[in-house]
Amino acid sequence: MPIAQPRRSLVTGANRGLGLEFVRQLLARGDRVVAACRHPGKATALNALAGEHPGRLHVLPLDVADEKSRTAFAHELPLVCDGIDLLINNAGVLHSGERWGGISAANLEDSLRTNAIGPFLLTQALSSQLADGGTVANLSSMMSSLGTDPDFHSPSYRISKTALNMATKMLAKALEPRGITVIALCPGWVLTDMGGSGAQITPGESVSELLETIAAATPARSGGFYDRYGKAMAW
Ligand SMILES: NC(=O)c1ccc[n+]([C@@H]2O[C@H](COP(=O)([O-])OP(=O)(O)OC[C@H]3O[C@@H](n4cnc5c(N)ncnc54)[C@H](OP(=O)(O)O)[C@@H]3O)[C@@H](O)[C@H]2O)c1
Repeated sequence: MPIAQPRRSLVTGANRGLGLEFVRQLLARGDRVVAACRHPGKATALNALAGEHPGRLHVLPLDVADEKSRTAFAHELPLVCDGIDLLINNAGVLHSGERWGGISAANLEDSLRTNAIGPFLLTQALSSQLADGGTVANLSSMMSSLGTDPDFHSPSYRISKTALNMATKMLAKALEPRGITVIALCPGWVLTDMGGSGAQITPGESVSELLETIAAATPARSGGFYDRYGKAMAW
């Protein structure tokens, strides 16, 4: 049976944007939260939140694209919590301004490492610490969809998020025997550094809808790709 209301949650890329808003809303609903970010010493907003919620928020270093960092994180996590009911693979990167003829291997590799390989291997590294019946939510994007006819922009991002969708399917299969639900979610077009000033919704609106969709996720929905309202999206 899925856990109705996750209480021990982990968010990657938690120092700004959607990740920071996930942390705020998870704390507000009463969860114990581990917030992972690349540079905890510079994560002013997260450290302020930790001061406001003593003992309920731990800030740990994690670069999801770096194997050594993922390994160190997996060793450190049990020191601050006794398991994870909800893992939100939120950290992501979008290299803007890519033009055909000038796409670099560095952009593609960084996008794949951060957006697809990182979430996949982090989930594997943490699997023994994930609670049976728990949930893994991967932040994908409508830009990953093969079912649309996309314009040629941000190919490194699109390719890496499409890979994340298959990683979601594979994780769903691997964790199915333990009743762990793994879903890919599109948050909408959100006003963050990545979304830019033309975006349509605030992080607050997006995250509150995403958390409702996550709470309603059952094993029957595992391996699926959904919008923030929980409606199935075209792969
Ligand atoms: N905003 C949108 O409209 C939108 C739409 C669809 C999907 N998404 C997805 O939603 C997620 C969050 O996006 P956002 O809008 O909040 O983006 P954002 O404002 O650019 O924030 C990205 C976060 O990811 C972190 N990050 C990047 N690379 C990392 C790495 N290697 N290791 C650990 N953390 C890393 C960043 O940390 P630093 O501060 O250290 O750089 C930052 O905290 C992403 O996966 C994104 O693809 C966003």
